[in-house]
Amino acid sequence: MPRSQRFAVRLALPRAGAMSSLLDTIVIEHDIGQTVNVLQITDTHLGLEPSTPLLSMDTDDSLLAVLGLAAKVLPEPDLLLATGDLSDQGALDAYFRLRDYTRSVCQHQFWLLGNHDHAETLRKAADSNKNLIRNDIRVGAWQIVMLNSQIPGQVGGRLGPRQLALLEEALQVSADAGLYSLVCLHHQPEPVGSAWIDAQAVLDADELFAVIEQFDHVKGMLWGHVHQEVDYVRDQVRMLATPSTCVQFARHSDEFKVDDLPPGFRLLQLMPDGSINTQVHRVTDRAFSVDLSSSGYL
Ligand SMILES: [Fe+2]
Repeated sequence: MPRSQRFAVRLALPRAGAMSSLLDTIVIEHDIGQTVNVLQITDTHLGLEPSTPLLSMDTDDSLLAVLGLAAKVLPEPDLLLATGDLSDQGALDAYFRLRDYTRSVCQHQFWLLGNHDHAETLRKAADSNKNLIRNDIRVGAWQIVMLNSQIPGQVGGRLGPRQLALLEEALQVSADAGLYSLVCLHHQPEPVGSAWIDAQAVLDADELFAVIEQFDHVKGMLWGHVHQEVDYVRDQVRMLATPSTCVQFARHSDEFKVDDLPPGFRLLQLMPDGSINTQVHRVTDRAFSVDLSSSGYL
């Protein structure tokens, strides 16, 4: 980006140094020369009660199947990231169940809000573990920034000036510390090729990328919401979306369409040299019930 443009972006955002810090930081002890193994689950859509169906799928059952597979693939992740739509209707019991299901998977876990979540209820569920909702995680050679793209009461996403300022502050700190950064949010920052869900992409993505492009240590962006696998590179930043632990959306469909692909998760290895190794894993050794004829659930 030209220097004049960078200057314009900085002027457009609240100055990080001119206010108290927006960062809620946690430092996890980890050898800087060691890989950071991350398990990402997303869009768990747990219902009001256990086994409440979503398009005929038992989302508690599918999540447990995904976690069972994850335990075989990566028995001891360093971090678990849950990137939004953790509940389907914002029920407290859904968050408690998620905590119960994941408690033994990983001590260090961090949650994001999605459009289906209820911020206050999620915070209530997180009360006994404030670490769940940190926005600046430092581990080994990496910083993970957790951004809130939820617009309360709306399906689509937006970051807004506060989250953008938070991002800029976080990235300045990690640049100064010589860390690599992975930026996480719920909504997709760029279209994925399906008109119906791309109408819900981050509204202020131009501002988001204007911040990202000021720094060359941002190595990845990671999100949920689209219920499908996405993996490409944008200006040297790895762009990654991950299947839901329940219902999947068909790729490149301009109208709402459910896919019959199985539930899954993503494994990320954040390497000490700033590279990212990552794969999606799906539960293929059993069948799941899903209503493929549905015309929507939002
Ligand atoms: Fe979702």
